[in-house]
Amino acid sequence: MPEIIVAPSLLSSDFARIADEIQAVEEAGADWLHIDVMDGHYVPNITIGPPVVSAIKKVASKPLDVHLMISDPDKFIPRFIDAGADYLTVHHEACIHLHRTLSHIIEKGAEPGVSLNPSTPSELILPVLNQVSLVLFMSVNPGFGGQKFIPEVMDKVDIVREEAGKLNRDILLSVDGGIDSKTCKIVKDKGIRVLVAGSYIFRSQNYKKAIQSLR
Ligand code: DX5
Ligand code: ZN
Repeated sequence: MPEIIVAPSLLSSDFARIADEIQAVEEAGADWLHIDVMDGHYVPNITIGPPVVSAIKKVASKPLDVHLMISDPDKFIPRFIDAGADYLTVHHEACIHLHRTLSHIIEKGAEPGVSLNPSTPSELILPVLNQVSLVLFMSVNPGFGGQKFIPEVMDKVDIVREEAGKLNRDILLSVDGGIDSKTCKIVKDKGIRVLVAGSYIFRSQNYKKAIQSLR
């Protein structure tokens, strides 16, 4: 895997031309495709469900990084994995039995991730670090693309990186929200390897340049 993994968030792509958008970001150097699933309950927005993930899987050649911003994710885990999610990330705040939910993802054969909202302390996920392949730090309040990066979130990264280091497991740290050519520097300094970026890439005139500027 490359040192820095750039994952364009399809939320900011042109949904009417999603196959073309996927091809364009893949040719421009995207490493993963980030898919934001919202249910209008856990977050105040509704986006896409398993049938659309299946459709994306048919045209994508890069791994699908599916970010579930939904209440009661257990209900939908099998469907998103059958639809083609390679990484499947749930929110700590949405899971009453997080260990059970992550076990469920592992049993179904996807790479499990856990995400934290900006106001949720990192300490809450330390007990499940042994289970996850990815920790996703939300650097905006989830629900919409195009919001401003919240720098205080970076204070939560050290403890996770240090604890992950002790476990001797290769856990990817990821950040999502307000990432551009400036904020990515702060993030990379914290040892975060996966950069999710929506509006910065899709609103640029040149996807390749935008992706390169994040590396
Ligand atoms: C926010 C989503 C993000 C969002 C990022 O709820 O999880 O993936 O699309 O968008 P930008 O990069 O525009 O902040
Ligand atoms: Zn996301």
